[in-house]
Amino acid sequence: METIEDEILRLKEERNAVILAHVYQPDEIQEIADFTGDSFKLSVEASKTDADVIVFCGVRFMAETANILSPDKITLLPAEDAGCQMFDDTLLPRVKAELAAHPEYRLVSYVNTPASVKAISDVCCTSSNAVKVIESMPEDAEILFVPDPNLASYTAERTTRHIHVLEGGCPIHGNLRTDVLQRVKDEHPGALVLMHPECRPELRAMADYIGSTSGIVDYAAASDCKEFIIATEMGVFYQLEEACHRQGKTFYPASRSMLCVNMKKTNLTKVRDALRTLEPRVVVPEDVRKKAHAALSRMLEIK
Ligand code: 13P
Ligand code: SF4
Repeated sequence: METIEDEILRLKEERNAVILAHVYQPDEIQEIADFTGDSFKLSVEASKTDADVIVFCGVRFMAETANILSPDKITLLPAEDAGCQMFDDTLLPRVKAELAAHPEYRLVSYVNTPASVKAISDVCCTSSNAVKVIESMPEDAEILFVPDPNLASYTAERTTRHIHVLEGGCPIHGNLRTDVLQRVKDEHPGALVLMHPECRPELRAMADYIGSTSGIVDYAAASDCKEFIIATEMGVFYQLEEACHRQGKTFYPASRSMLCVNMKKTNLTKVRDALRTLEPRVVVPEDVRKKAHAALSRMLEIK
């Protein structure tokens, strides 16, 4: 009998589809994906795929990004209600109000934004290229960076540019507490702490390495150390085990509460059904898409 994984593979061939999965996705999804990676790597894959259908296993802003970059393809988001808790509908009016109050601001938006905010941005960035993107702005630029004040402060510490922020942030990373991390460090004194820049500054001061999800995986794979405390969403453990296969390395979560419910909404049944029905689709309206495309393209051009 055909298993659900076999059916997905068969439908994928029939539809000429590609499955992209963020590294916070459930293990079963990362296993069947054609490409896994951080937000930047997945944006690049979405911009260059020659598939007819992109099945985006992640959250809505990621599928929107794929549709903005490849509008001639069908973009499917199997978990239709998977949003990102870093922003809500108030973000666009708040950003507009700030820009109206400070017309001199240049807007840099993290990819974790709705298409409508990307559309009014000078340029987008991800956690892996935020510093490079900010450095690409004129020396005297006054930059409004949304929607994550923690990634903004991490970036500001590494550049001479002036960065302004709005309230917001990722609760999964932002709620990590110093006493919780200290306890895990005390339990594993030989372990290195690898952390995502969406964590708060006082937590980042306790880290040995700070980087995007791909950066964390690459660092662990290249390190001579055998033990690591991982301060990001727990889906990344799948990639850590894959990348460090047979290296005898052990990974400990900084906190077992670092789980993004939205990232866990995708399952095999939803991926199979999306491939069967070619729904639910994500389509960004053309006027918004064109403007958002310009901001994303500028990001992709920065080397
Ligand atoms: P990266 O994959 O770019 O590290 O982003 C992390 C994240 O929180 C995505 O939602
Ligand atoms: Fe958004 Fe945080 Fe979930 Fe990433 S981990 S999708 S930033 S809520």
